[in-house]
Amino acid sequence: MRFLLNPGGNLRGSVRVPGDKSISHRAIMLGALADGVTGVTGFLSGADSLATLAACRAMGVAITDPDAAGRVTIHGGGLHGLTAPSAPLDLGNSGTSMRLLAGLLAGQPFASTLIGDASLMQRPMRRVTQPLGLMGAQITASASGTAPLQITPVDQLRGIEYALPVASAQVKSSILLAGLFADGATWVTEPAPSRDHTERMLTAFGYTVERDGMRVGVRGGGRLVATDVAIPADLSSAAFFLVGASIAPESDLILTDVGINPTRRGIITLLQMMGADIEIVNPRTFGGEPVADLRVRSAALHGIEIPEEQVALAIDEFPALFIAAACAEGETVLRGAAELRVKESDRIQVMADGLTALGIAADPAADGLRIRGGQLRGGTVNSHGDHRVAMAFAMAALRASEPITILDCANVATSFPDFAPLAAAAGLRISSDDNG
Ligand code: S3P
Repeated sequence: MRFLLNPGGNLRGSVRVPGDKSISHRAIMLGALADGVTGVTGFLSGADSLATLAACRAMGVAITDPDAAGRVTIHGGGLHGLTAPSAPLDLGNSGTSMRLLAGLLAGQPFASTLIGDASLMQRPMRRVTQPLGLMGAQITASASGTAPLQITPVDQLRGIEYALPVASAQVKSSILLAGLFADGATWVTEPAPSRDHTERMLTAFGYTVERDGMRVGVRGGGRLVATDVAIPADLSSAAFFLVGASIAPESDLILTDVGINPTRRGIITLLQMMGADIEIVNPRTFGGEPVADLRVRSAALHGIEIPEEQVALAIDEFPALFIAAACAEGETVLRGAAELRVKESDRIQVMADGLTALGIAADPAADGLRIRGGQLRGGTVNSHGDHRVAMAFAMAALRASEPITILDCANVATSFPDFAPLAAAAGLRISSDDNG
């Protein structure tokens, strides 16, 4: 599938982007492990969170199909209610599913195998298999530390104290989920704050989570009590619209019900540092998660040096931010973001190549990118099957001089199935076909 973009236009009106992907995964997993019936609203019906849903169903949990409002009912069987899947669990493109489920499955009394698509089968998994191994888990990966992951049951996991080498919510969450099944306490220390949705949702399900500065811990053997979960709109999906409305003249857009958890807010902070006009309206909470409407209007952006402490807080938003940088006056410099090289694609190289194809000077480094703002031309960009790269370059058309074609866009459905019609309704001149 490819996106075809005509240049120009602006973004106006009101948009509710789909439910938060990270929170959708966790709602299914914790609902499956809880005692009782969990009602979810705002669930993301994207391929990634549906992969988590299918995996939990394959382990005997009754879960309804999401309806148009993202309503899902999960009949949890308690902490020890999962049953052996009859086939390998295929998690598609979803790194979050694989890493979190590896932790959840490490303490089960049955064997399981985790596989995924070509991209996921190349992504690093040692970051979870190594600490889970310290807890006593039996997990084998390929010689290069990638999936398939083969998990063999062990008598008992034990709690550990683990210092994360890189800030990663996926690794932290994987260890904490294994910790629910471990003897004693499991503590994780982070080098920098990463998204804390697992901690917030465990608390909402009545499970005690201890915090002590940068350490977070759980004790095994507790109980999760079913609860209702309202999932905010995903700030990572809203990010494309925040950038699009900032760069396109005469834009004025409201994004409703967006999650603004402080561990996710880097994109708002960074765009505001660049001169963006983003207003946070009507702040409130959905369960334990802060939510607001975001009003964004066109603004003249300028380049910035991205503070390294913002990197983990904006980790998924750099493809979008790089498009803002391409439209900004002067240079934007990112460092300390080597993690971007092991996301759904190598986002440093793939974004640098795409920006260069569109006439923007972009110098990649091992751990970042330097971009000089300028006039975007038209051209063809390969997204390499990376949903966020595809959506970021779609927004670039708002300021391009000629049409843009974006190849390999089918994976947009992993996080934002209706991106093209929703963006078109707001004013993006986008269509799609099956020729690329
Ligand atoms: C996620 C954590 C992040 C992020 C990913 C979703 C999560 O990964 O990039 O899209 O839901 O925990 P890392 O924690 O590995 O940086």
